[in-house]
Amino acid sequence: MNILENASLLTFNTFRVHVKTRYLIEVSDVNDIRNFIGSELHAIRPKMVLGGGSNVLFTHDYDGCILRLSIKGIENISENDESVLLRAAAGENWDDFVAYCVKNGWGGIENLSYIPGTVGASPVQNIGAYGMEVRDSIEMVETIDLESGSTRKFSNKQCEFAYRNSIFRSDLQNRVIITHVTFRLKKNHCFNTSYHELKKELSLHPETTLGNIRSAVITIRKRKLPDVEILANAGSFFKNPVVDQTLLDSLKLRYPEIPFFLDSGGNIKLSAAWLIEHCTWKGRRVRNVGTYRKHPLVIVNYGGADGSEILSFAQKIQQSVLNHFGIGLETEVNII
Ligand code: EPU
Repeated sequence: MNILENASLLTFNTFRVHVKTRYLIEVSDVNDIRNFIGSELHAIRPKMVLGGGSNVLFTHDYDGCILRLSIKGIENISENDESVLLRAAAGENWDDFVAYCVKNGWGGIENLSYIPGTVGASPVQNIGAYGMEVRDSIEMVETIDLESGSTRKFSNKQCEFAYRNSIFRSDLQNRVIITHVTFRLKKNHCFNTSYHELKKELSLHPETTLGNIRSAVITIRKRKLPDVEILANAGSFFKNPVVDQTLLDSLKLRYPEIPFFLDSGGNIKLSAAWLIEHCTWKGRRVRNVGTYRKHPLVIVNYGGADGSEILSFAQKIQQSVLNHFGIGLETEVNII
């Protein structure tokens, strides 16, 4: 266990906000977590767990303990002709894990290529992209209770997965630490290439393979989304809003071209990017903060912005969308 006091979080959040935490505790195995729970530091509140810091916005210094998990390892638990069961440690880099699976011919998460963050963070917000969500490949999530130190295994159903949500982001937020995630990946996987943009990009490849899907997704993401190493951001800042049929019908009268789609649960979702663009926020910049010029759902820190400046910019967008469409945009990013 590595303990740092009054530590900078600059390199631990992809918004590159200059904030400090009272304690930054790096845990590299399950024993470290137990040692932390048995230590004096455990009494300090608040506490939170940080993965890759790619979905978080700190608006002030954190007067508590932040735990960073660097538990590593991928275990092949069992395998048959159809599938493989892999247990990955929470601190593994997500995209390295996807690359490893694709290389071995195991399907189910290839559309989720190039998403920043860690394996342990993937179930928390049920990461999703290009018609795929991680919940469809998760068999089990292992946790340790931050107060009692007791371990618990959550089956897929017990994770209560929903669009960009799970029990780990709702009832159990900052109450448990995810240590391992077990995935079931398929050997004769049915490719999911229904997403229009992915289909189009794949048509440039001679055949549809796991590797080509991964390449196509990476190409699309690099084209549309800013690279955090160049332009600090946390991916989509807002969720796509779910609306009812009545609201959709009334919006369609005013905006016949409004894009909408049905998710796997049959909910009607609008495109937050479209709503924001329609309110003229695409590519707009106020001092050090702006929306990305190619995708208005992504808020970028051009350098030097603090968390409250980013938050106040985001709130202006929310207000604008509310005034214009009567729709409240929820944040996808965790605001601390
Ligand atoms: N659109 C615009 N203007 C733009 C960009 C997009 O109007 O500048 C509209 C278009 O109608 C487009 C639609 O938005 O068809 C959807 O755009 P896109 O395919 O980029 O997807 P998204 O709904 O904006 C979601 C996820 C992304 C994920 C993509 C691809 C959320 C909050 N975001 O974005 O996830 O990569 O789909 O599947 O669900 C993330 O979570 O950080 C993230 C990047």
